Amino acid sequence: MKILIIVSSRHNDNTLKIAEAMSEAAPVTVTALENVNRYKLSEFDIVGFGSGIYYGKHDKKLINFVNGLCNQKRYCFVFSTSGSSNYSKNNSYLIKLLESKNKIVLGSFGCKGEDKFFIFKLLGGINKGHPNIEDFDAAQKFITELSDKYNSLLK
Ligand SMILES: Cc1cc2nc3c(=O)[nH]c(=O)nc-3n(C[C@H](O)[C@H](O)[C@H](O)COP(=O)(O)O)c2cc1C
Repeated sequence: MKILIIVSSRHNDNTLKIAEAMSEAAPVTVTALENVNRYKLSEFDIVGFGSGIYYGKHDKKLINFVNGLCNQKRYCFVFSTSGSSNYSKNNSYLIKLLESKNKIVLGSFGCKGEDKFFIFKLLGGINKGHPNIEDFDAAQKFITELSDKYNSLLK
């Protein structure tokens, strides 16, 4: 099985760290969104889309990229890091967009990421130290279970 993770991590590399943790637990290739043209999505069994949450949604550039995808059926997942812990709401826009493109979203993951934006910077940042070891463990459990789910669909 081959998994491609496309990540946009503009603020603090928080989401990139989660992608890298996933790559230690499953056959994952991680690419920054800027370099995604180096890869053929059709050569991967599952494609993961992740970024920080900025103003309530995933990175606009990632959303634009998904908007430009064709309607070919593909297995996907969505993940994010954020200041808030409302992960299912944070991921919902991108999930719906992927589903509108005929993608099957196998799962979604979220965890806290250190947030040093604007007023939080003045306060020294919130979610200090996140993602932390528990977040990495949870991300690895997520990708392992997602791989198992994909394999059981093929049976
Ligand atoms: C410009 C900006 C806007 C943000 N907006 C939100 C938001 O709407 N909701 C939220 O929970 N976190 C928000 N955050 C916090 C980020 O989602 C969080 O720090 C995330 O871990 C950043 O991921 P990254 O380091 O991969 O970019 C925002 C951060 C920045 C810099």
